Amino acid sequence: MIKLGVNIDHVATLRQARMGVEPEPVMAAKIAEKAGADGITIHLREDRRHIQDKDVYEIKKAISIPLNLEMACSDDIISIARDVLPVTCTIVPEKRQEITTEGGLDAAGQYDLVSNTVMRLQEKGIKVSLFIEPDKVQIDAAKKMGAEYIEIHTGLYANTEGEAHIKELNRIKEAAVYAHSIGLIVNAGHGLNYTNTQSIVEIPYMHEFNIGHSIISRAVFTGLETAVKDMIKIIKK
Ligand code: PXP
Repeated sequence: MIKLGVNIDHVATLRQARMGVEPEPVMAAKIAEKAGADGITIHLREDRRHIQDKDVYEIKKAISIPLNLEMACSDDIISIARDVLPVTCTIVPEKRQEITTEGGLDAAGQYDLVSNTVMRLQEKGIKVSLFIEPDKVQIDAAKKMGAEYIEIHTGLYANTEGEAHIKELNRIKEAAVYAHSIGLIVNAGHGLNYTNTQSIVEIPYMHEFNIGHSIISRAVFTGLETAVKDMIKIIKK
């Protein structure tokens, strides 16, 4: 059964809009857990635009499901990860000006930097996932540097229609089958919503989806518990 990791960054985005205290990400984490989420995902960005350092500590303490910390290869965030000890860290690329993570990590092109980060996290018993494009070169690099997981970037799939959409879906399928065949655990995420997730569910060997924006958006109208349950219905059908 595919697992659902709920990304609650945008609860923090709303709080940071007023630089206040509400809504509290820790509360969102607890509600998502109660609704049946298999994990909580947060991205501690270098610019701290949503999740703050204290959120990472509070959420880790408050939940009993696994915490997945998304992070760039940055020294100060690696130190926080080594202190907090999330179950997994997902290494993502990060650009200051981007609205959200815009593409997969170039693990092959930045091999030394990424593999050093993987090693520093694994040294503390943290399992590591690399957020990459559905591309054999990147999958091979992830395997070579000893990452346990990959998370396939589904952003292009989510943002295209017609032929391009089908082509990208097939690329994701091939990547999942290949990554599984060389012993990697395969996750997926980015841009997944209540209509486009179904086709990704049907891909073999999918382990977990990390979904944020669409769940938090629906939660504005239905409440978070219902929004999480609605997504679980799609994923665990
Ligand atoms: N996975 C990764 C690695 C991400 O960076 C993000 C966005 O923070 C997500 C999943 C969730 O994407 P979305 O908010 O579009 O569901």
